[in-house]
Amino acid sequence: MNNNQPIGVFDSGIGGTSIWKAIHQLLPNEQTIYLADSKNAPYGQKSKEEIIALSMKNTELLLEMGCKLIVVACNTATTNAIRELRAKYDIPFIGIEPAIKPAATHSKTQTIGILATQGTLNSELFNKTVERYQDTKIIEQIGHGLVQLIESGNIDSVEMNQLLTEYLTPMIAANIDYLVLGCSHYPYLIPQIKKILPPHIQIIDSGEAVAKQTQNVLKEKVGLSSLTESHPMFYTNTDPKVLSDILDNKYQVLCKDF
Ligand code: DGL
Repeated sequence: MNNNQPIGVFDSGIGGTSIWKAIHQLLPNEQTIYLADSKNAPYGQKSKEEIIALSMKNTELLLEMGCKLIVVACNTATTNAIRELRAKYDIPFIGIEPAIKPAATHSKTQTIGILATQGTLNSELFNKTVERYQDTKIIEQIGHGLVQLIESGNIDSVEMNQLLTEYLTPMIAANIDYLVLGCSHYPYLIPQIKKILPPHIQIIDSGEAVAKQTQNVLKEKVGLSSLTESHPMFYTNTDPKVLSDILDNKYQVLCKDF
C-alpha cells in the first residue's frame, strides 16, 4: 500500500459529500474518490442484508480504483455493515455514527433529540450506544422522506419545511437542548432546521470528528499523502446534476454504472 493512493468515500447518495468536505478541508493533499450510490438510495429503508451487499459492492469498486482507506460516509451503512466490511477486507475503514456522546455529555436538560434513518435507529450498533446513556432521555425520530427530497434536489422546499416541522416540534416540546443529525444527508438541512428550532438548541453532526479520525488512522496505519495538491474525483450512478450542484459545480462528476 502506497501513501499517495486515494481515500475512498461512499454514501447512498449525495449526503456523504458533507463528510467529504470536512475531510478535504482537513486533508487537502489527500487524493479522494467519492461514490454516490444514488440509484440505490435510500439505504435507510433496506434490510441489513441489502445494506451489507450494497456496501460491499461500493467497497469493491473503490478497492479496484486503488484506495488505501475507505470512509463509509453513511450512518446507515456504518451501523449495519461496518463490522462485516472490516471482517472481509484488509484495509482500514472509518465509519460515521450519530454523535450521541457529545450531546448526552453536554446536555443540561438531559434530553436530546436524534434524527436519523430507520436503518440506523433500528441497528444493533446504534442501540448498544444508546444503552450507555441511561441517564439521558433520547428522543428518536425517523426522517421519513428527507433523503428522497435531498436526492431530488428539493432541499429548500415547502414539503421539506413541513416534514422538518412535524419531526422537530415534539422534540422542542420535550425540552431537548441538543439535536443530533444522524444521517450524512442532514447537514444540508441545517439552514431550514435553524428556522424551526429555538436558538438555544445546539445542532451536532459528525463531519469534523470523522475527518479527524481519518487523519489519525492514516498517520497510524497507511501514511498521509506526500502530494502537494489533489484532484478529487466524483462518481454517481444517476443524473450527475444534483451531486454537481451540492459541490457548487466546482468539480467534474462522472457517471458510472455500479
Ligand atoms: N446518508 C445516509 C446516512 O447517513 C443514508 C441515507 C439513506 O440512504 O437512507 O444514513
